[in-house]
Amino acid sequence: MNTFLLNGQHTNDIERAGEILRHGGLVAIPTETVYGLAANALDSTAVKKIFAAKGRPADNPLIVHVAEFSQIVPLVQEVPEAAKKLAEAFWPGPLTIILPKSELIPPETSGGLFTVAVRCPAHPVARAVIQAAGVPLAAPSANPSGRPSPTAFAHVKQDLTGKVDALLDGGDCRVGVESTVITLAAGKPRILRPGGVTPEELRTVLGEVEIDSAVLKSLEQGRVASSPGMKYKHYAPKADLTLVDASPEEYSNYVNQKCGSESGLKSCYALCFEEDTPLLTIPYLSFGSRYDSAEQAQRLFSSLYRLDALGVKKIYAHMPRKQGVGLAVYNRLIRAAGFSVVRPQKKMIVGLTGPSGAGKSTAAKLLEEAGLAVIDCDKLTRSPEVYTADCVAELQRAFGQDIAADGVLDRRLLAERAFADPDSKKRLEEIAFPYILTAVRQALENAFATGKQVAALDAPTLFESGLDSACARILVITAPFEERLERICKRDGIPEKAARQRFSAQHPEEFFGNRADWVVENRTGADLEAELALIIRELQEESGEIL
Ligand code: TXA
Ligand code: MG
Repeated sequence: MNTFLLNGQHTNDIERAGEILRHGGLVAIPTETVYGLAANALDSTAVKKIFAAKGRPADNPLIVHVAEFSQIVPLVQEVPEAAKKLAEAFWPGPLTIILPKSELIPPETSGGLFTVAVRCPAHPVARAVIQAAGVPLAAPSANPSGRPSPTAFAHVKQDLTGKVDALLDGGDCRVGVESTVITLAAGKPRILRPGGVTPEELRTVLGEVEIDSAVLKSLEQGRVASSPGMKYKHYAPKADLTLVDASPEEYSNYVNQKCGSESGLKSCYALCFEEDTPLLTIPYLSFGSRYDSAEQAQRLFSSLYRLDALGVKKIYAHMPRKQGVGLAVYNRLIRAAGFSVVRPQKKMIVGLTGPSGAGKSTAAKLLEEAGLAVIDCDKLTRSPEVYTADCVAELQRAFGQDIAADGVLDRRLLAERAFADPDSKKRLEEIAFPYILTAVRQALENAFATGKQVAALDAPTLFESGLDSACARILVITAPFEERLERICKRDGIPEKAARQRFSAQHPEEFFGNRADWVVENRTGADLEAELALIIRELQEESGEIL
């Protein structure tokens, strides 16, 4: 088949794509999530061609794309209030809503179900093509069934040239993972597939939203999939992929050893985070910062294509956080891995941090009471064992011999000089952090030697010190600004102005939130203990402390 290459920036090409679609042809189109393979959703013959081109099982239904909210009205039995709210908040955008279908939708499109998935994409080219076609477009991701979804035009060309009527170039996809799929057709709103719109965002609009168990786990044997797509192997690169659940340090130790061994030397790769790269001695491909789920989402599929192009045979991917869009990244990776996950270390180190006045110490106490080893890194910072002869000598070179005139460190004088200006403070940190880290590591070793399986590092400067690199999970405690202010004034006996000043020199709340596996808000009246209990249980389960 001759496949036309069209460009989304040219009006003529959009018209052409519309015409092909109106006449029952197939066109690959860009959307903000991934490229889709489109056909007229109301034409069963056209829709069948999609299944043939992709090698897709016939019972896996397609998403129907519209350019305007009003265009869903004839496609569904009725538009419930919840759907209106969702559309108002997230359309056009990466959200697909499942509703009972109307007669207009042929069974080929809905995979024989009584429901239909509808979505209004945000990509201007996608919307222009739908308008030009004058019909709603059924469009699954434009990959051959089971493979990673294309997010770049080059990948679409590679997969579909010769198989479809035309390919429309719209550049790289912004979101990088497919839309969130939510069903409003079966009781409480439930997420069937996580994507560009996060569970947190959906809850702000709908209140309670469930997450289908198949999002995180493989479908249990014998259970009927709510979303047929969940039962098939998915997103898989050619290489064998294993997901590694570990801190950056544990991850790199593990993969350096696995891929560095003789059998691993041939075409074994780490699919890692930016933060892992200084620790890796083997070939790697970074797909973004450990703390930037949106970046990971955007780069995930193109990274898998890249690894395929390199002929890689074995991939060890670093497990992403499940917060926000991270849930979608995790969901795709775990399927790409065929649910193969390893935890190289049973022991679990969790970083405990947050803005001052949030109640970190209270949380630390609760963790300790629950049986975790808690290491107070701030206290270690002040402990004499950190200030070895080498450390003191380095500090003297930076801040003057007299800070330890008689061999004993004058901490007050050191503080006076080191906190005089930001540069000096930075210098102090550069010198002291490695010594503090050694002390923390020793404390961890001692804790694990007593048989503890989970240790928390209580560290206000978890990220600046680099201690986050030792943590497989990060727990952040926050509280409303006004409450934190009040607590600090009371605790340190300082006026509000001074407390405000102190806060303004610290990281804002989002800084912590964006790096957390869990955020616990410790507002007055909240049941901190109950919230922590759930997290503790999860940690203990994962570390094998309770089975
Ligand atoms: O971002 C996206 O949604 C992309 C772009 C092209 O819009 N499309 C996409 O389509 O990811 P596809 O076919 O690759 O994934 C659709 C998923 C499948 O898992 C399918 O089983 C599920 O949505 N689905 C579709 N209709 C459904 C229905 N009526 N009930 C339950 N699940 C449905
Ligand atoms: Mg797909």
